Amino acid sequence: MSGFTILVFGAGGHLGSALTRRAAALGWKAVSASRNHGEVRVDITDRSAVADTVARVRPDAVVNAAYVQSSWKVTADGAAHVALACLGTDTRFVQISSDAVFSGREPSYAEEAEPDPVTPYGAAKAAAETAARLVPRSTVVRTSWIVGYDTESPYRRLVDDALAGRKALFTDDFRCPIHVDDLSEGVLSAVDREVEGTLHLGGPDALSRHELGRRLAVRFGKDPDALPTGLKAEAIPGSPLDVRLDSRRTTDLLGLSPRSL
Ligand SMILES: NC(=O)c1ccc[n+]([C@@H]2O[C@H](COP(=O)([O-])OP(=O)(O)OC[C@H]3O[C@@H](n4cnc5c(N)ncnc54)[C@H](OP(=O)(O)O)[C@@H]3O)[C@@H](O)[C@H]2O)c1
Repeated sequence: MSGFTILVFGAGGHLGSALTRRAAALGWKAVSASRNHGEVRVDITDRSAVADTVARVRPDAVVNAAYVQSSWKVTADGAAHVALACLGTDTRFVQISSDAVFSGREPSYAEEAEPDPVTPYGAAKAAAETAARLVPRSTVVRTSWIVGYDTESPYRRLVDDALAGRKALFTDDFRCPIHVDDLSEGVLSAVDREVEGTLHLGGPDALSRHELGRRLAVRFGKDPDALPTGLKAEAIPGSPLDVRLDSRRTTDLLGLSPRSL
């Protein structure tokens, strides 16, 4: 799709930068927007600045990957501002969401599962989903821990922090982590194929935070046995422990095979 313009909010972040790079590699015009990085500096909590950005860029598609875990204003209100800016335009809108919208009370969650968040972050992501669904032709992509192997990856820092004794890795906290490049491929494939609705894009395996840390430590040439362990149930009582996205329908639909980590 040469001549196709995609505007990525949160392009300074881990997923946003991978999306921008991949879109450019596909020959799309990728416009990066972020608070402190990218071509367009915009604060998504500023409703009119977001509207001005979308009106000026006139993108064919918008992806919102911007968030701050502790901020309702950014994660929920900001997402609503991006959705609102897309409303009444021809643009496709993709809101990146999270398995944090689920409590973990069910053994696994398919795309039709309704959010039952138990944390403020999960509630903010669920609110962002609702805002996104108001936009015709919108897509919500729920994902899980986003892992990369490069030096910028937050999970590289996680392993380093754990090995330095600054963090314990929970053995009772399970998710379906996905490689950032596989997630980016899936998001852009959904844009390309004009797939609407709710999609689940997690990786194929459920891993504990500790097991993920062990695998990454091996990959980074560090000692996996030196990683300190802990229990999330004790450290953060009441927070979701075992949240497994069932992504088979989405991966079949998009013809994806996210790698095992
Ligand atoms: N990380 C995970 O494991 C994980 C798991 C499940 C779902 N998700 C979802 O995946 C998405 C991307 O996550 P990520 O880990 O790639 O995020 P990230 O690396 O933390 O990047 C977040 C981005 O949001 C931008 N941002 C924050 N506040 C902003 C504001 N007020 N206005 C404009 N931009 C703002 C930041 O901009 P600057 O850098 O320019 O300041 C940054 O580029 C999010 O929707 C998140 O909920 C993440």
